[in-house]
Amino acid sequence: MAGMGVQHHTFDAVIVGAGGAGLRAAIETAGKCRTAVITKLYPTRSHTGAAQGGMCAALANVEEDSWEWHLFDTIKGGDYLVDQPAAEIMCREAIDAVIELEHFGLPFNRTPAGRIDQRRFGGHTRNHGEAPVRRACYSADRTGHMILQTLYQQCVARDVVFFNEYQVLDMALVDGRVGAVIAYELATGNLHVFHTKAALFATGGFGKMFKVSSNAHTLTGDGPGLLYRRGIPMQDMEFFQFHPTGIYKLGILLSEAARGEGGILRNAEGERFMERYAPTVKDLAPRDMVSRAIQTEILDGRGVGPDHDAVHLDLTHLPPEQIDEKLPDITEFVRTYLGIEPKTAPVPIQPTAHYAMGGIPTNIDAEVVVDTAGTVVPGLYAAGECACVSVHGANRLGTNSLLDIVVFGRRGGRAMVDFVRGVDRPEVPAGVEDDVRARIDAIVGGAGGEKVARVRADLQAAMTEKAFVYRTEESLAAMGSVLGELRERYARVVIDDKGPTFNYDLTEALELGYLIDLAEALVVSARARTESRGAHFRDDHPLRDDANWMRHSLVSRGRDGTVELTYKPVVAGDYLPMERKY
Ligand code: FUM
Repeated sequence: MAGMGVQHHTFDAVIVGAGGAGLRAAIETAGKCRTAVITKLYPTRSHTGAAQGGMCAALANVEEDSWEWHLFDTIKGGDYLVDQPAAEIMCREAIDAVIELEHFGLPFNRTPAGRIDQRRFGGHTRNHGEAPVRRACYSADRTGHMILQTLYQQCVARDVVFFNEYQVLDMALVDGRVGAVIAYELATGNLHVFHTKAALFATGGFGKMFKVSSNAHTLTGDGPGLLYRRGIPMQDMEFFQFHPTGIYKLGILLSEAARGEGGILRNAEGERFMERYAPTVKDLAPRDMVSRAIQTEILDGRGVGPDHDAVHLDLTHLPPEQIDEKLPDITEFVRTYLGIEPKTAPVPIQPTAHYAMGGIPTNIDAEVVVDTAGTVVPGLYAAGECACVSVHGANRLGTNSLLDIVVFGRRGGRAMVDFVRGVDRPEVPAGVEDDVRARIDAIVGGAGGEKVARVRADLQAAMTEKAFVYRTEESLAAMGSVLGELRERYARVVIDDKGPTFNYDLTEALELGYLIDLAEALVVSARARTESRGAHFRDDHPLRDDANWMRHSLVSRGRDGTVELTYKPVVAGDYLPMERKY
């Protein structure tokens, strides 16, 4: 293909991705080691900006709270698959992390006394489940947007070096250590080899493997996907979160903050059905439970809409000024996309694929670990949604992801600084970009007649039908067969644009490859886990099975295409598994 010249760059540390985790890591490395941030999007377009409802921390600004209660809720919400020491770090450091963001200039909503205001969110309770607690710090319903802008400004103030609209496509290991990452420059079609001592991946999730998803089109699992191909296992892939309230058919997020502010879910009979499923916290149960409750109402014939396949989110009883002040963005989405006025009419919603609990396995310093013994790959780090430090277990609580990105982005940045100070830069062999060039050439020269958009649409439709809120051996086995066919079709994709400039035909083809690989990792892990836990619900194995399944899945794909599973135990702590009542 035209373009495809090669440029070389030399840094101490490279951060891949400029969402909240990547930016927070960059703030930590700035001025301490030569760092490049490489991002396929302009930083302020990163998906952190789509996070809405809040970031939790037990500040106790509006009512009694403690980080221990937050920890308990996180572990119970995660259905006890949470590694408790990691979650303790997150809940303890949350308080400092919020105050740091405030000092960075983040415009949080305020109490009348001028303190950071806090609101309710699903699964966050006072005193170990007694009642919902106000723990989420927020900026209307655009908290992620504000975090992203704030962190980006802090990076600019620190002269962080950005390579914007560069898509990282490979990582080179030299004698088992990170030596380089290889990126494709969207504007020119050239390749760039970034020689480095360390790389931190913060590329976000991979929700675009599903048809109904809250994820942006760019969330295609590039970081986990390329590392998976380099032999890094993926952890807990079967645990994918379905957020209860996506806009009907479109999947666009309507923040849980709507229920935190008092919104109510109703079925076709107008019944507040969550009273039956979670009598104590009702609409503010954890997401896995609420999504299953919605699907159950629909399957039992109490859905709304022409096809009876949605339920209503009812905000009509809230004071209009509260809606305007606290939920301005999501109510505008409803007007724009559905033509409904949420102050006066209920909004049809359905569960939407939202968040990957699984991903690149890491320890508490964001170092990537590759086996059951916790062996690290020197110089390799991951943080944020693409990583799995096991703070969310089988089901993440709302607002714990914005917390995760700042806490573990910061820890990863610090750990990288320490690491690069003690090592030389490895000598990277010539031609390290050859694999990437061959992949691109194969797609550009492809003549098999399969269109990327068609293969992707079929993947998304099948995943939403067979590997969504409810799963069975039968549905997952069928999905495994579909994936085999999709893989064959993918080998025959053809693209129309052969040019070097902003060739999205090409980059979408590359992204589709990652989505297929990661969907396979999810399905293989889900099929093997013959229990129901958190977001992974098996109709044919409806109970949690602590005797056999208090362990994390590690899935690997060999060069010959065989997929293997191993397991490692959950790291226990003070909280023993209990029945999960709300
Ligand atoms: O509902 C929401 O505002 C989403 C928050 C989250 O995923 O943490």
